[in-house]
Amino acid sequence: MTAGPAAGPPVRRAIVVGASSGIGRALALRLAHEGYAVGLAARRLPLLLELQAEIGPRAHVRQLDVADTARAMTRLEELIAELGGADLIVVSAGTGHVNPDLAWEHEEETLEVNVLGFAAMANVAYRYFVGRGAGHLVGISSIAALRGSGVAPAYNASKAFVSAYLDGLRHKLARLGSPVAITDVQPGFVRTAMAQGPHVFWAASPEEAAEQIWWAIRRRRKRAIVTRRWRPVAWLMRIVPDAVYHRLG
Ligand SMILES: NC(=O)c1ccc[n+]([C@@H]2O[C@H](COP(=O)([O-])OP(=O)(O)OC[C@H]3O[C@@H](n4cnc5c(N)ncnc54)[C@H](OP(=O)(O)O)[C@@H]3O)[C@@H](O)[C@H]2O)c1
Repeated sequence: MTAGPAAGPPVRRAIVVGASSGIGRALALRLAHEGYAVGLAARRLPLLLELQAEIGPRAHVRQLDVADTARAMTRLEELIAELGGADLIVVSAGTGHVNPDLAWEHEEETLEVNVLGFAAMANVAYRYFVGRGAGHLVGISSIAALRGSGVAPAYNASKAFVSAYLDGLRHKLARLGSPVAITDVQPGFVRTAMAQGPHVFWAASPEEAAEQIWWAIRRRRKRAIVTRRWRPVAWLMRIVPDAVYHRLG
């Protein structure tokens, strides 16, 4: 009788929702580099297929629009099944507009994607991980979660929702005594399609952001401000009085 091939360590499986560009794309590549089988989800299928070709056979693709919540939830469940399960689900999908005129279509889209879409993806991940008794959900929020914004009211409010929702899920898990981990990632500016214009400063590359997010994932951190240089900014945002904050550009 001949011995079969030695079984290696089980392949870890990660899904990135919002993997077609920016932070999500860089993180998917980082995870693939670490040996994860990766599920790639977003709306722009050609970009997902390009990334799949770059990663190779351990990449799986699902086109989904998180704002179409019911269908997106089914697609995410299908992707989990196709991967044979998931150890890590990252929800990076998000949108934002500088919206000084408070145009309703921008406010509405931001809330549909960042609030309803995020909650739908987190809901699938939470229920799946609790049922399995293990797993790690990562949400890409923003330091914008920390305060309101006069130029992008819906964006900052939507990110406050993301962070508070993740905190709520963490609270539920603690009450269950569940080992499932939740990480709330709060980036400052990262050089992506979303962060353009004269107001952008101290912008990290998506790769640098992904590296620090990966660091936080490995340590199962509850919260991570990315990149680290934004920590003092986040601290200031929390403590600066309204009278001063509201006078800032
Ligand atoms: N860049 C920054 O400075 C910064 C700072 C703080 C937080 N963030 C957060 O980081 C996350 C990623 O943004 P990014 O900077 O990497 O910008 P990005 O390059 O524009 O990436 C956004 C990603 O979200 C996906 N997405 C958007 N709407 C979607 C929808 N309806 N359904 C499914 N996927 C959708 C996009 O894919 P498709 O268009 O293909 O669907 C894309 O993959 C966002 O949540 C953003 O709020 C960014």
